[in-house]
Amino acid sequence: MSLTAAELIKADHEHLIHPLHHPSDNAEPIIYVRGRGATVTDIAGHDYLDGLSGLWNVNVGHGRKELAKAASAQMEELAYFSGYVGSSSIPAITLAERLIGLAYDNMQAVFFTSGGAESNESAFKTARFYWKTRGKPDKVKIIARQNAYHGLTLQTMSATGMGAYWKMFEPRMPGFVHIQTCYPYRFQGARPGETVGQAAARELEEAILREGPDTVAAFIAEPIHGGGGVIYPTDDYFPLVRQICSKHGVLFIADEVITGFCRTGTWFALSHWNVQPDIMSFAKGVTSGYLPLGGIMVNRDIKDAIDSVKPEDRWMHAYTYSGHPTCCAVALANLDIMQRERLWENAARMGRRLHEGLQAAFGDHPHLGDIRGGKGLLAALELVEDRGTKAFFPGEKKVGPRIQAEMVKRGVITRVKASEAVFFAPPLVVTAEEIDRLVSVTRDAVKAVLGR
Ligand SMILES: Cc1ncc(COP(=O)(O)O)c(C=O)c1O
Repeated sequence: MSLTAAELIKADHEHLIHPLHHPSDNAEPIIYVRGRGATVTDIAGHDYLDGLSGLWNVNVGHGRKELAKAASAQMEELAYFSGYVGSSSIPAITLAERLIGLAYDNMQAVFFTSGGAESNESAFKTARFYWKTRGKPDKVKIIARQNAYHGLTLQTMSATGMGAYWKMFEPRMPGFVHIQTCYPYRFQGARPGETVGQAAARELEEAILREGPDTVAAFIAEPIHGGGGVIYPTDDYFPLVRQICSKHGVLFIADEVITGFCRTGTWFALSHWNVQPDIMSFAKGVTSGYLPLGGIMVNRDIKDAIDSVKPEDRWMHAYTYSGHPTCCAVALANLDIMQRERLWENAARMGRRLHEGLQAAFGDHPHLGDIRGGKGLLAALELVEDRGTKAFFPGEKKVGPRIQAEMVKRGVITRVKASEAVFFAPPLVVTAEEIDRLVSVTRDAVKAVLGR
C-alpha cells in the first residue's frame, strides 16, 4: 500500500537529507508527483507554474514521452557499459559528435560526466594537465569570481564565490583566487571613464599579474551567473576577458551549466559576445534533467595535448558513468526536440516578454534595486531596502523566503537568493500567458510582503 502524504513527510524528515539541508526549511516539503510542459503538480493535486525549470534544467519542459521512450529503448538494448578507453558506445559517440557540431567552432572533443560539479572539477584537472604537457607544471591556480556557483566538490566549492557554501566545510582548497564579477549594479572601484566591464576585466588582469602568470592555469566564469544572482555582464566584458586570458596564457573555462542548451536564446551563451572559451562545462539542459549528464568540451590544442602524451603520462581521469549510454541516448532525443521546435527562438521571444513585463511591473517600485534579463529565459529581480544605499533587507526579515512562499500560495514555484533576488528561468516551452502570470504573481507576492 502506498504511503499517505503525511507518512511520506514523516519519512522524509527522518531519513532524507536534502541539498542545502536544514529542518527549518523542510517542515512541510512540497511533494511533486507530475509534470507537463511548464506545470508541475503536487501530491495533493495542486498545479504550479514551474518558474525555474526544476533547477534551471528542464529546458524542454516536463512530461516528454519521447525522452522516456529513448531511455527505455536504450535500456532494453544496452543500459550501460564501461566507456573506459578501448570501449565505446553508439549513443556516446553520436552525442559527442553532435555536441561538437552545435558548440563553438573551436571545440574539438567531449568528456562526459554526470553533472555540473564533475564537469568543472574535470575542467580544473584538465587545465593542470594541459600546462604540465606544455612544460609549465606550476600553472595550477584558478581565478574565479565572487557570486559564482560552480558545484559541491571541494575544488568546485573553492571556486564558488559565495562564503555561505564554504563556511562549515573549510579549509578551502589552496590555489583558488576570487575577483569581483562584472556586476553593473554593484561593482566597486571602476575608474573615471572606465565601464564596469573594463574595470572587471582589469581586475582579472591585475589578479593574473599579482599571482604570476606562470602560476595561473585558468579563469572560470559563468557567462551569466545563475544562483549567485542571475548577473548579466556588460557587452564589453567577455571580449576583454578573452583577450586578457590569451595574452597571459591563461585558459578560459566557460561554465555553461545553466546558460547552455538554448537557455539564453542561443545554443551557448558566449556567442552573444562572439567569444570562444578553451574549455566549456555543461550539464543540466543537455538532457533537460530527464537523466543526469554533464561534461566538458575542449579545444583542439587541449585535445592534441591529451592525445600526444606518452601512455604513462596519460590523462588519468576516469568515471564509471562517463558516456553512460542511456543518458546519452536521452540527450540525443532532447537535442532532437530542441532542434525540431527551435526552442532558442521561443526562449529569446519569451525572455524579452518576461524582461519587459518585469520592467513594467517593478520599474518604479520603491524597493527595486535592479532588473536583469533580456537574453532568453534567465532573469532576476533584485530588491533593496534602501535604493540610495542599495542596502539589502536584513536577513532576519526573511523578505526573499516570504516572497517565495507568497508565490507558492499563488501557484508559482521559483527560487530566491536570501533577501536579495527572485529568479526566473521557466522551461523554454513557456507560453506568453504563463510569462504574464509569472510576472503578475511576482507583483502580487511582493505587494503582500512589502505592502506596496
Ligand atoms: C553554473 C553552475 N555550475 C555548476 C553547477 C553544479 O552542477 P551540479 O549541481 O549538476 O553538480 C551548477 C548547479 O546549479 C551551476 O548552476
